[in-house]
Amino acid sequence: MKIVHTIKDLQAKLTALRAQGKTVGLVPTMGALHAGHASLVKRSVSENGVTVVSVFVNPTQFNDKNDLEKYPRTLDADCRLLEECGAAFVFAPSVSEMYPEPDTRQFSYAPLDTVMEGAFRPGHFNGVCQIVSKLFDAVQPDKAYFGEKDFQQLAIIREMVRQLQYKLEIVGCPIVREEDGLAKSSRNTYLNDKERQAALCLSRAVKTGKEVIYTGADAKEVLNPMKAIIEAEPLARIDYVMMVDALTMQPIEKADRDVLVAMAVYIGKTRLIDNFSYEV
Ligand code: PAF
Repeated sequence: MKIVHTIKDLQAKLTALRAQGKTVGLVPTMGALHAGHASLVKRSVSENGVTVVSVFVNPTQFNDKNDLEKYPRTLDADCRLLEECGAAFVFAPSVSEMYPEPDTRQFSYAPLDTVMEGAFRPGHFNGVCQIVSKLFDAVQPDKAYFGEKDFQQLAIIREMVRQLQYKLEIVGCPIVREEDGLAKSSRNTYLNDKERQAALCLSRAVKTGKEVIYTGADAKEVLNPMKAIIEAEPLARIDYVMMVDALTMQPIEKADRDVLVAMAVYIGKTRLIDNFSYEV
């Protein structure tokens, strides 16, 4: 496995491999890797000749400066995990490599980006589209892999690919959970022992939501018991718990089509997300 820091270097290496007929899989990450990322990388390794994993804490997608500063940076440990997973390249560029000048491009994929994360984190998805489009341009992958924990992000990236006519396949991969149910997240490392315990209210709410949902169920029938579980946890504060159309991301009153039930909840100062989808 090679660690590469510049686009030029990466492209030279990939051009040579493509000439040998190898397909390229890309797994974009912000590092602080865990088993969820490993599942994306392993999937890419099994489906492509070469897998590139980008490790870049993208400043333009953080709407909170403190959040950006404290985001965990663990490149050495990340590289060890990626080597075990079979990645061929770690692409770890500097901020000036990815943004030699400020990126003034505006990406707007309404209505997908107007609710949930888009509403609570203004500018977040614009920053995600800026970096992901730069990564697609730099790597020109045949396939790119994203986790379904960020379901709204996945929907927006699919839409960006469609509108900008990128010639690549987007592969969504299922949420990976700890044994006790907590969805794997780089942000879980912020939780102290009490908060780690409290954070289980998210996965308990997901479990309950999955149990009570049925085709035609009212949103309240699904969301109220989920909210009750979270509200019973003193360290938890809800940003949103919503039932939306899985294609448009717009809130719906009834589970009469494919739905996404998604939540963002603060546990102490740490904001966590989780979701499940239900197919009619
Ligand atoms: O999901 C993430 O980790 C990030 O949003 C991504 C896609 C790597 C872009 O920085």
